[in-house]
Amino acid sequence: MSGKITFTMIKPDAVADGHIGAILGKISEAGFKIKALKLTQLTVADAKKFYEVHAERPFYGELVDFMSSGPIVAAVLENENAVESFRTLIGATNPADAAEGTIRKMFARSIGENAVHGSDSDENALLEASFHFAGKEIF
Ligand code: CMP
Repeated sequence: MSGKITFTMIKPDAVADGHIGAILGKISEAGFKIKALKLTQLTVADAKKFYEVHAERPFYGELVDFMSSGPIVAAVLENENAVESFRTLIGATNPADAAEGTIRKMFARSIGENAVHGSDSDENALLEASFHFAGKEIF
């Protein structure tokens, strides 16, 4: 049974490129309900911790620098089969491989600066939501 919650960030590239409104519009049109939302910025320590699972990857340093380079929008979203349906909406990690009409195809700059994050499992969705939001900030 798949969960109803996923976590997303609109990444610094898409915030800087002025795409917050358009991306939240696509998310709402796709039927996701916003349970929590904030404009914030990750410190280097926050980004290192959030992406700890990628610490051994060659792109980890670049990823941490980029994700802490400017404001992001963090959100908790609700929908049926939330993790999988959101990953379908955002498209492949590399925008060059993403399907037409997906958020990454429309708004991402590159594989590293790829506009949005989407949780990869129900377990991680809950961990990521609680990394960014206190219980009283989730409605
Ligand atoms: P996301 O899936 O949100 O979380 C891990 C991130 O690592 C991923 O998005 C990409 O932004 C980044 N990433 C994955 N592969 C590469 C790569 N080959 N080069 C740079 N960044 C990458």
